[in-house]
Amino acid sequence: MEKLKFIRPTKEYEQQAYDYIEEFKKYNSKINGTGGLDDYIGKYDEWLKKLEIERENYNKDRVPNETFMLIREEDNKLLGIINIRLALNEYLLQHGGHIGYGIRPTERRKGYNSYQLYCALKFCKEKELEEVLLTCHKDNLGSVKTIENSCGILENEVKDKDGKIIQRYWINVDDAIKKYEGSKQRTR
Ligand SMILES: CC(C)(COP(=O)(O)OP(=O)(O)OC[C@H]1O[C@@H](n2cnc3c(N)ncnc32)[C@H](O)[C@@H]1OP(=O)(O)O)[C@@H](O)C(=O)NCCC(=O)NCCS
Repeated sequence: MEKLKFIRPTKEYEQQAYDYIEEFKKYNSKINGTGGLDDYIGKYDEWLKKLEIERENYNKDRVPNETFMLIREEDNKLLGIINIRLALNEYLLQHGGHIGYGIRPTERRKGYNSYQLYCALKFCKEKELEEVLLTCHKDNLGSVKTIENSCGILENEVKDKDGKIIQRYWINVDDAIKKYEGSKQRTR
């Protein structure tokens, strides 16, 4: 795989961030893991400020969380955004999980989300999280496969407010990191 950067959002990516959200809309794709960027179109500085505040914040509605961007180095293109919650509240425990993610529609099925999740799990390890919860709709095959490939163990299924089935998976952070690193060595 080409060289990729996993970074905290910076001002440099303002226009790309707007284009990223536009692309999801154009392809009528579900938007997930953006740290709320879709509500901050035209207000990028406010979004950066919000991310900074949420890094430290803890209340029952907003647990501390971090947002990262996945950038392809050769063309400096924003490929994905991922949001990592460092604690769970009741809603996250049942429905949201520790991590939400997305890859822009035109760059899917190239392994980018698997890499993005691997980077996020390394960050979780730094933060001393040993097990993380990932949830996804049962019919979201790209997400189900990303999770199952990352040692996800299905705990159960619950329904969202519209009655759609959500699967709740636990990932052992060390196991998933080792598995990803092992699989990349084999393909080199
Ligand atoms: C889910 C999503 C992040 C996957 O991103 P991606 O970069 O395409 O994922 P990867 O290329 O790393 O693929 C991961 C695995 O899923 C498989 N996969 C990806 N999309 C798939 C699809 N539409 N159908 C079936 N399998 C799919 C890949 O083949 C790969 O499995 P493999 O390695 O065993 O072949 C992307 O589709 C997306 O952004 N969706 C909209 C937002 C969203 O749903 N977020 C998750 C909410 S829970």
